[in-house]
Amino acid sequence: MHESNRLKVAILGAGSWGIALGNHCQSIGHDVRLWEFDPVAARRLEQQRERPQVLKNIRIHDSINITNDLNASIKNAELILLVVPSHVCRSVLKQLTQSQIQSNAVIVNCAKGIEIETLKRISEIVEQELPSFTPRYAVLSGPSHAEEVAREIPTAVVVASTDELVGRFVQQSLNSFHFRIYRSRDVVGVELGGSLKNVIAIAAGICDGAGFGDNTKAALQPRGLAEMSRLGQKLGANPLTFAGLSGMGDLIVTCMSRHSRNRYLGEEIGKGKKLAHVLESMTMVAEGVRTSQAVVKLASREDVEMPISFQVFDILFKDKEPKQALHELFAREVKPEIW
Ligand SMILES: NC(=O)c1ccc[n+]([C@@H]2O[C@H](COP(=O)([O-])OP(=O)(O)OC[C@H]3O[C@@H](n4cnc5c(N)ncnc54)[C@H](O)[C@@H]3O)[C@@H](O)[C@H]2O)c1
Repeated sequence: MHESNRLKVAILGAGSWGIALGNHCQSIGHDVRLWEFDPVAARRLEQQRERPQVLKNIRIHDSINITNDLNASIKNAELILLVVPSHVCRSVLKQLTQSQIQSNAVIVNCAKGIEIETLKRISEIVEQELPSFTPRYAVLSGPSHAEEVAREIPTAVVVASTDELVGRFVQQSLNSFHFRIYRSRDVVGVELGGSLKNVIAIAAGICDGAGFGDNTKAALQPRGLAEMSRLGQKLGANPLTFAGLSGMGDLIVTCMSRHSRNRYLGEEIGKGKKLAHVLESMTMVAEGVRTSQAVVKLASREDVEMPISFQVFDILFKDKEPKQALHELFAREVKPEIW
């Protein structure tokens, strides 16, 4: 990389996705600082330079600076990647308001979720907490398991920003031969695609765990996509975005992959385990659980039918039997495929 293209990049969140993105940014020539909020975990990461509980056999590049000091991590940073679970994004953004964030920095949200209490997407939270960064906001999403990105397995994602120049800047800064980045202006669609698919991934896992078969699981994905884009359209997204990387692409990988925690969680539930028990056994966030709560509220508010997501919510939180949920889905009034 030419010295003039070298950026100071702050990665906020040193979980599996933060580490994978940190290594990626470093390997393409940027100067990376990785922030971990937990001081004990930060110290351990600094000493061991790996986090096998969330990302096995991946070493954090020696030149990445690991810190527990948020101010130090964002000092002079031109790109700030937000890579914490969605339910803590607001608290991290609030901390940024108290810190020395550079006014021309671009915030790139890499989390996938909707805030349950307010039903806000991350861009809307940025608008509330750091309004001057609204035009300097982008979201990065798509089929990108950290385990594969960290091994430089070819991956394609999409970056959306309402500002074309900001979108191009992020695209050109993070694109590489194994991490191909497409560009979009549809922030609403890209954010919703990445968030809503996690609920459908839980449904796919339930199918696997309960032994429903390939036909059932294959039916789930396009019908899941239909309800995702129905809500998206109501909220102002371009329905075509859901046919792209952050919609269909991410849905396919999350419903099929052994790396998907949401699919795994669903599989355990499908086998008859209780949600609390499954969550206890997981070290990493499964965003689909919280997102199912948000989706039920959001779809009710917007008066949009999302039958699969509602059934996932009932299975997770109301102890509904997966067989009963499937029966109710199939007993719905028959209708045209596209409505
Ligand atoms: N892992 C992936 O493959 C992947 C891919 C694409 C998107 N994502 C999304 O990225 C986000 C992060 O996922 P992850 O897999 O890295 O999660 P993770 O559970 O591996 O790590 C989360 C990180 O957030 C930190 N954290 C937890 N609570 C915090 C708080 N209160 N304040 C500040 N930091 C806190 C943790 O210490 C850790 O560093 C999620 O929204 C996820 O959906 C993950």
